[in-house]
Amino acid sequence: MEQQLNGSAFVRHLGDLSADGRAGYAALADRVRTLLSDGRLAVGTRVPSERELAAALGIGRGTVAAAYDDLRGSGHLARRRGSGTWTALPGEGSSSTPVVPFAPTSASPSGIASDVIDLAHAAPAAPADAMAEAGQEALAELPGHLVGPGYDLLGLPVLRGLVADRLTAQGLPTTPDEVMVTAGSQHAHALVVRALVRPGDRVLLEQPTYPNAIDLVRHASARPVPMALDRDAAGRARWDVAAFAAGLRESSPALAYLVPDHHNPTGGVMDAEARGGVAAAARRHGVPLVVDDCLRDLWLDDPVPPPLGSWATVPGEAPVLTLGSLSKSVWGGVRIGWLRGPRAVLRRVATSRASDDIASPVLEQLVAAALLRRLDDLLPERRAVMAARRDHLLTALARALPDWHAPRPGGGLSLWVDLGAPRSSVLVEAAARHGLHLAAGPRFGTGGAFEGFLRVPYTHPVDVLDDAVARLATAWETLGVGAPAMLAPVV
Ligand SMILES: Cc1ncc(COP(=O)(O)O)c(C=O)c1O
Repeated sequence: MEQQLNGSAFVRHLGDLSADGRAGYAALADRVRTLLSDGRLAVGTRVPSERELAAALGIGRGTVAAAYDDLRGSGHLARRRGSGTWTALPGEGSSSTPVVPFAPTSASPSGIASDVIDLAHAAPAAPADAMAEAGQEALAELPGHLVGPGYDLLGLPVLRGLVADRLTAQGLPTTPDEVMVTAGSQHAHALVVRALVRPGDRVLLEQPTYPNAIDLVRHASARPVPMALDRDAAGRARWDVAAFAAGLRESSPALAYLVPDHHNPTGGVMDAEARGGVAAAARRHGVPLVVDDCLRDLWLDDPVPPPLGSWATVPGEAPVLTLGSLSKSVWGGVRIGWLRGPRAVLRRVATSRASDDIASPVLEQLVAAALLRRLDDLLPERRAVMAARRDHLLTALARALPDWHAPRPGGGLSLWVDLGAPRSSVLVEAAARHGLHLAAGPRFGTGGAFEGFLRVPYTHPVDVLDDAVARLATAWETLGVGAPAMLAPVV
């Protein structure tokens, strides 16, 4: 998890220290604590020396020394013999490692008891009619596939062709032989990690990011290198291309994993300029990029820029591997996704897959193909429903919990809520006692960051969201962080 910041990079992170009317060592120490707890400054970052930071900030060295002392006292900085001073979080390592997998439990056929509201997973229910139609179409096509052995390491040509056409239409020219069918985008990511990452390697991940991506890296005995996301004036996630390039240069990761479209959990969208910058930096440093586009189709306000992969067009450069699936745009239960990349990399991935699940099930691939043929007809309604639920949840939260702040995401399936207090884990425990399942902020980062944040999906119908917000407000009240406002009906 090593990263190093020089004086001027650190000053950029700190921003305007006099903005809140305070100055001196306490303001400096408080700013560092805030940046660490909300993940904008990654845990395990080597900070500049007192002398270097004092020069960069234009303040006395004594002020920086007092701030560093204060931060060491509160557990936010730690000295490592012979290698400088590093950021930390108090109690880091004791409770931050999750023990529960980030996947639904199976207490009932739906995975969740009926009186429990599941907001731990940002995944919508299936469009029942479309699923039934796709199933029938797939069954009708199945006889045509029964003559062969049914094992196709790279996937059915018909499905690979449909995926290639879709990516091409999005602005990423793709041929079917650049597509491999997988059991979802997480499976595609796992296959790439298995083929390209060795134990001890580093993998650069956004901070925050999708929890299963962090666990995947850890399970491969590799080391996650957190790349903190910045925020714009409206509180939306922003990618700092210079910090990304510095992360690549300093940690030489085996690959970097990014979610540029409706990033989970922040909902942020990487703008076109940053896509160009990120692709160029990866090329310069020879680092393969894994681009998770599984949420791409779920823009709710405006379409997103072309896929990040379309900025990486020079043959022979570090590969860009694009992941996708039908899990968010249609249904997670389809369990069909894809990996798009250079043929040589696909061959390598396929070789290691041959000793794993060998190939994807034929019937499910036919269902996925039938769904892809319908996708552009399905999406407008999907988007309208999700946009209405997003707006409803924002209104309900603003009324019930006015001290919380959530930027309005332009797409995706969840809000990333700033609680204004580092109570996410205890809130999630309290909410569970009220029959509400949530994933606490630290689940989305490394090193225990994001205690002040909560991801709240808007995938449920509005009456369920109202119930969830009422339970959340009750749970928050039990923590005594501040009295919630009276609940008003939301129409
Ligand atoms: C960013 C991201 N990647 C991957 C996944 C898993 O998707 P799939 O069902 O396609 O494996 C999710 C699901 O929440 C996600 O948000």
